[in-house]
Amino acid sequence: MVNANTTLEHIQQRSSIRRYERTPLTYYEITKLKKAVLAAPTARDLQELRYYFVTDQSVLKQIDECIFRHASCETRQQMISRGTDSFFYNAPLAVIITAKNTRWADADAGIAIGILSIAAQSMGLGSVILGFPAQGFIEGDPDNCCKLLRFEEGEQFRLAIAIGHPATQKEPHKQNPDLIRDI
Ligand SMILES: Cc1cc2nc3c(=O)[nH]c(=O)nc-3n(C[C@H](O)[C@H](O)[C@H](O)COP(=O)(O)O)c2cc1C
Repeated sequence: MVNANTTLEHIQQRSSIRRYERTPLTYYEITKLKKAVLAAPTARDLQELRYYFVTDQSVLKQIDECIFRHASCETRQQMISRGTDSFFYNAPLAVIITAKNTRWADADAGIAIGILSIAAQSMGLGSVILGFPAQGFIEGDPDNCCKLLRFEEGEQFRLAIAIGHPATQKEPHKQNPDLIRDI
């Protein structure tokens, strides 16, 4: 008998969730997510990423305000059409990944975010990967949120992910088998 492969099922079931219950994540859930992200591989095992686990909603609100200052009309319209006033979709947890300007930082961050999204799915949680919050950390903006999170000199936003109990459902995106090249 072949055992069901739940990891593959979670990969297929994951989709971007943009509405969350208010229920905070438990200490146990957050600890599991921290352990998952620390298991993510990094190039040459340099471990140059930093993972900010933000549950303080007032901090996320300040980052939102910063992002909105830089948001284009199109982005604002998109937020309205998505029925939200938060780039973190009022999720109880956002993980913000940063790194200094090193060769593999973005690749490492993408892998870490992928692992977090599947870990969240496997725990019955929803998530959405977030690039927009980069606008809250724009270099050269003296009012950016780098100080708020106490970034070190040279530390830059890479990617983020919102995680929480889903208050909505979304079908996974349509898969296109033509994207595969068999050699
Ligand atoms: C690198 C990256 C950045 C993203 N940034 C955002 C974002 O800022 N806001 C958002 O709502 N979704 C964001 N997404 C989610 C994508 O829009 C979503 O993954 C895509 O539409 C496919 O849908 P699915 O995740 O439900 O399969 C991002 C996804 C990736 C991979």
